[in-house]
Amino acid sequence: MSKISEFVSKHHLQNVEELKELLRIPSISSLSEHKKDIEQAASWIATKLKNIGMEHVEIVQTKGHPIIYADWLHQENAPTVLVYGHYDVQPVDPIDLWETPPFEPDIRDEKIFARGATDDKGQTFLHIKAVETLLASDGKLPVNVKFCIEGEEEIGSPHLPKFLSENKEKLACDVVVISDSDMWERGVPAITYSLRGLCALEVSLKTANSDLHSGMFGGGVQNANHLLIQLLSSLHDENGKVKVEHFYDDVVELTELEKEQIKALGFDEEKLKKSLGLTELTGGENNIPYPEKISSRPTVEINGLWGGFQGEGTKTVIPNEAHAKITCRLVHNQNPEKIQGLIKKHLEEQAPKGCAVKVTLQDTGNPFLTPIDSPMMQKAAEAYEQVYGKTPVYKREGGSIPIVSDFNQVLHAPVVLMGFGLPDENLHAPNEHFNLENFDKGILTICSFLELI
Ligand code: BES
Ligand code: MN
Ligand code: MN
Repeated sequence: MSKISEFVSKHHLQNVEELKELLRIPSISSLSEHKKDIEQAASWIATKLKNIGMEHVEIVQTKGHPIIYADWLHQENAPTVLVYGHYDVQPVDPIDLWETPPFEPDIRDEKIFARGATDDKGQTFLHIKAVETLLASDGKLPVNVKFCIEGEEEIGSPHLPKFLSENKEKLACDVVVISDSDMWERGVPAITYSLRGLCALEVSLKTANSDLHSGMFGGGVQNANHLLIQLLSSLHDENGKVKVEHFYDDVVELTELEKEQIKALGFDEEKLKKSLGLTELTGGENNIPYPEKISSRPTVEINGLWGGFQGEGTKTVIPNEAHAKITCRLVHNQNPEKIQGLIKKHLEEQAPKGCAVKVTLQDTGNPFLTPIDSPMMQKAAEAYEQVYGKTPVYKREGGSIPIVSDFNQVLHAPVVLMGFGLPDENLHAPNEHFNLENFDKGILTICSFLELI
């Protein structure tokens, strides 16, 4: 191992420079004007994989953004690891709040700042570097390795399921390893054993055939904004519970033991409030501890809301339409399509008198839960211990990586989520960054994992 860690330290600067190259490519998957950048990021990764000695490197075109495949399969009796990651990133707005431009990586306080630094270019890069390190120092890998890196994670991986089901043989493996999650806190690694799923909907509400003068008609005709607020208010009761019928039917309640385990991880409410600039933490269901709410309970959130006049000054108008975007976070055993249907039905049934409500169904992604005592997880824990000197915490994550449950089901392989991000690295927000402390340590932990299995 010491040979490996010497190699990693010696190449630290060069490795960071290479990551900067990748971070400079603005591969935002949701914006069509970045299609060229998406292609450039895919080809950058493919070239890198070739250069470090990976074989059969392919850029697989899809109806959306390309997937990169590569393998190294020269350890006949050893297990095969499939590494998944994503090279696409979220949009950068609000741009004014970035201290340095999002696609000009900058190092401050031992952190690298750029969009994608932690989610997920930085973390995916650790696997590329781990393989490079092992190949360069040994001429071979201790196991077989396949890479599957996609460019559509941030838009819900619409084309990856088809690729998985059409390439089961090619992707066959003994374990899927993903670094697209975070550690517990600085110095304390974590293995994520559960992710929430999600489903999205949009609701539009219409009243009269046109906006109306609020003096001539006000007090007499219904206002689309008011009706939408009324309709959306029916989604939760006064205790923060979702009021949609059957919403909780399939939720598996945590056992007392699981609740104890979550509690034992500790939670500093004051510290969190301070860091978020909040005086109270009153979201979601009353009487459920915060750490459980954000990891193990489903939610319905209104993400966007618009209708009526929003320009400068005043306009005395009664709007005739109003709109909302809604997403749910779902937990193990809930079915995203089923929940979408329940919410649609609720919104249609609760539609106030005198308006037309139209609900459109959008993306879904499955939740994921895996036992924590699988042999592969044990090996991951050992690898973390070797490098961080600490046993990792096992945690349920509130975020989603929709494709994870497909990997599990289609490839019949265990998935190990080995994260190296930190919870305060501003993913999806201005000033996203990745702590360089976890850069070399991440590479070393992955090297250890590959050796241990
Ligand atoms: N890497 C994140 C998910 C994540 C965040 C895992 C924090 C663990 C800790 C992923 O890239 C992400 O942002 N997922 C989206 C999914 C959506 C865009 C389909 C999410 O959770 O909102
Ligand atoms: Mn991610
Ligand atoms: Mn993300």
